[in-house]
Order: sequence, then structure tokens, then C-alpha cells
Amino acid sequence: MKGARKLYVKSFGCQMNVYDSQRMADTLAPEGYVETATAEDADLIVLNTCHIREKAAEKVYSELGRLRRLKEAAAADGRSLLVAVAGCVAQAEGDEIVRRAPAVDLVVGSQNYHRLPDLVAHAARGGRVVDTDFALDDKFDHLAAPSRAATRARGVTAFVTVQEGCDKFCAFCVVPYTRGAESSRPAEKIVTEVERLADAGVREVTLIGQNVNAYHGVGANGRPWRLARLLERLAGMPGIERLRYTTSHPLDMDDDLVAAHRDLPALMPQLHLPVQSGSDRVLAAMNRRHSRADYLDVVARLREARPDLALTSDFIVGFPGETENDFAATLTLVEEVGYAGAFSFKYSPRPGTPGADMSRQLQEAEKSDRLRRLQRVIDQEQAKFSRACVGRTLSVLFERPGRHRGQIVGRSPYLQPVQIQAPPSLIGEIADVTITEVASNSLFGALASPLSSPCKGEVGERGEPGGGLTPPRTAVGGSTLPLPGREKIAGAGA
Ligand code: 5AD
Ligand code: SF4
Repeated sequence: MKGARKLYVKSFGCQMNVYDSQRMADTLAPEGYVETATAEDADLIVLNTCHIREKAAEKVYSELGRLRRLKEAAAADGRSLLVAVAGCVAQAEGDEIVRRAPAVDLVVGSQNYHRLPDLVAHAARGGRVVDTDFALDDKFDHLAAPSRAATRARGVTAFVTVQEGCDKFCAFCVVPYTRGAESSRPAEKIVTEVERLADAGVREVTLIGQNVNAYHGVGANGRPWRLARLLERLAGMPGIERLRYTTSHPLDMDDDLVAAHRDLPALMPQLHLPVQSGSDRVLAAMNRRHSRADYLDVVARLREARPDLALTSDFIVGFPGETENDFAATLTLVEEVGYAGAFSFKYSPRPGTPGADMSRQLQEAEKSDRLRRLQRVIDQEQAKFSRACVGRTLSVLFERPGRHRGQIVGRSPYLQPVQIQAPPSLIGEIADVTITEVASNSLFGALASPLSSPCKGEVGERGEPGGGLTPPRTAVGGSTLPLPGREKIAGAGA
């Protein structure tokens, strides 16, 4: 390892970016880069950006303005600070970023992270670099795996990318342009990655992809495996107690995947299944390739397989041409499905997508009004779902200390945050909690049975202050997975 330098990675947007940020840190670790939690003392800052909506992209430019001042301050101190822009804004805007933001030394597209060490070395010699080609070689073959210590420091839950890109071309969405065509990683590579995670103490794995249930990787037998087969393989792996996957497209919900929700106890009863709109006219204009009835049919099949399935969704209000009647159909769909939560967004025209050129764009005020009305209904549904948990005993995987003294926080099978008063030694454990109260986004409860010997093996050590388990160092520009029903962040895709 070369002399230690400090790396600060700030991730915006979806879970895929959180995962990519970690892999960038892993790839730069052998170059001597150690992660730091603050931009101020960094030698290299990477902004891992999101382009899904205009607001997300604009955030990057305002952050770059701040970094310019930080860079000037570092120079005044005789230190050099390198600034890199990665992710979907990098992919979409390339040279434009270097032109618009003088602080930027290097721009790297989402398929080229394995080249970071070379690109950083070039930038350190004073060259400004833009590398946004879609690489022909598979970046996953070259990206360094995390060390055991790095995995443990990131906690007991982990994301694993299984596919990238999308071929669906919804009329509002930049993903097919920024992340490219759909491509799936070979099953064996995913299995090996999950084995390493399990070995380092990870107990819950979320398989991620922009259109994750379109997964069709080469299986162990050389035949294509769909997502259900991959989940089945991982469900039997020692140490891995919980599996999830996100984000899915309704059309790719095949029978085997539906059956997996019935047959695999490790597959948690929670699914993010974006519908975007409840109106057939709008769904057609969005090129979603499914109707409201198709979506409801998928939901019915899923609920037949797993009656307690918690569903979440994404919605866009104010797509071009959306009438009040169309919008009313979205409101009734939310009630008909009975979501456990949902993300909702005002339509944001993205340059280069068909929606941006459509006539009958809606006024901002109209979009804001519809968003408010939709969020009211989503909140009601979410509250209903949470209230129904009171009095129930749910198994909770504890992930980290809570905000208040003596509190720890975990997730229910339905992905709700659950807070209880309990010792940190329980972090990393799954225990039954009786739910006593609900707040807007969290459940509160108490252990269903008194603590006997919760600390098995290395768990106590990981939960102790200064031990292996600390919050992720990589700063995240938003939460990672739904439940909250707001225009906040979300996963990109499907
Ligand atoms: N405008 C508003 N919301 C969008 N999304 C994707 N593209 C846009 C856009 N142009 C939302 C969709 C998607 C989620 C990740 O972001 O709801 O499911
Ligand atoms: Fe693909 Fe999802 Fe974007 Fe549609 S919304 S193009 S399915 S990533």
C-alpha cells in the first residue's frame, strides 16, 4: 500500500450509487486512499451523482461550487485537493461538467470505475480527464472486492448489484441513456460476492439493479438464470438470513419470481414495484407497456403467493397531458393497492427523453398541487399499514445505534425502521419485537422475550463502540430504500 491519503465519497440518488461508491472506495484502497467522513480533510473528493430529475442534477452543481472554495482553501494551505465527478450526471454531461465547473479534475462515467486509479494518477499530474465511454470490458471483473474489515465497517446489511441498465425506455426516464442497455452479471460472481459478505458478518443482502427482475445472468450450469433461480441459490447460503431485491418492473414479474415469495422464507415480504400512474392513458404515453389492470393482476398474484406482502411504489404526477381524471385514477389506485409507502415526484422533463418533447406540459403549480394531494393519500395508506403492526410481534434485524441513548434501530421484515431500548450487543442480531407504537416513519416496541444470551460469536465485538460496526463512512445523499412516502430520494429505475 502507498502512503495514506484521504478519500471522501458523497453519494446522491439511488442504492446503485451507494453500492458503486463503496466499490470505488474499495478500488482506491490499494492506492493508499482511506475513507474520511468529512470533505474538509480529504485529498480526493468523489461526487457520485444522480441525473434522474433536474433537481438531483442541479444539486451536483451547487455542491461543486462549494468544493471550489474548499479547493482554494486547501491550495492556500499548500495542500492539493482533487475533485472527481462520477455517476449519471458524469455519464450524461461529460465535458460540459469540466466546462461549467472549474473545480473538477476528473469526470468518470458509471461503467469506468475500475479505471479510477489510472484516472486519478493522471489528474494528480495536472491533467483534466473525462472518461465516459461505455467500456467494452466488464468493470465488475476489475473492481476490487472490499476487504473483510471494510465490509464489517459497513454493517450487517449490504447491497449487491446484479444487473445494470434498462431496455424499457419509459418516456420520462434517463436510465437507458445514462446506464445503457440492460446487462446482467454472471450468477457465480454474485454468489461469490455474497459468500464473502456472509463471511464478514452480513446477514441481509439486497440485490439491486435498475430493472432487477429483468435479471438473466449465466447460471452455474451455463444456462441463463432468472432472478428467482438466483434468489433460491442465495437463500440457502449459511449466514444470509434475509434477501430483498429492488427495483422491479411489473412486466418482468414472472411466475417463478412470484412463487419465490411463497417458497423462500429468507425472501422478505416486501417489494418495491413502481407503477408511476393509475391511468391507462398516461401509462401508454409513458411507454410503460402495461395497463392498470395488468399491474393489479401482478399485485393479486403476489398477494396470493404471500398474503402479507408490503408493497411500495413510485409515482410521477404531471406527466405531459395528464388530466384531472387521469390523476384521480392514480389516487384510486393507491387506495386500491393499499401501499405500505411510496415515493412521489413531480414530472421533470429530462433532455433527450421523449417526454421532454411532448406537448401539453403541465404548469409547475398544477404539479405541486397534485403532488400534495397524492402524498396525503399515500400518507394515509402508510399510516394504516403501520398501525396494523401495533400489537404484532415482528422479527427485527438490528443495524445500528439509535439517535437517543440506549436505543438501537433495526428493520422489520417489511423494511420499516424499528426502534427499541436495548444494548448495542444486539446489533447484528435478529430478534422478535412486539410493536407498541408507531410514528410517521418508524415503529417502536420492546423485545418479545427477555434477553438471554444475545451475543453469539463475534456479534458483541461488532456492536461495541470502536468495534467493527460503525455507520457507513460513505456519505449518502438520501435514505436508501422506501418506506417514506415523499418526494425525497428513491432508487432509480423500473
Ligand atoms: N421526472 C420525475 N420523476 C422521475 N422518475 C424517473 N424519471 C423521472 C422524471 N423525469 C422517478 C420514477 C422512478 C423513480 C426512480 O424516479 O418514479 O421510478
Ligand atoms: Fe427502465 Fe425503470 Fe427507467 Fe422505465 S423507469 S426506463 S423501467 S429504469
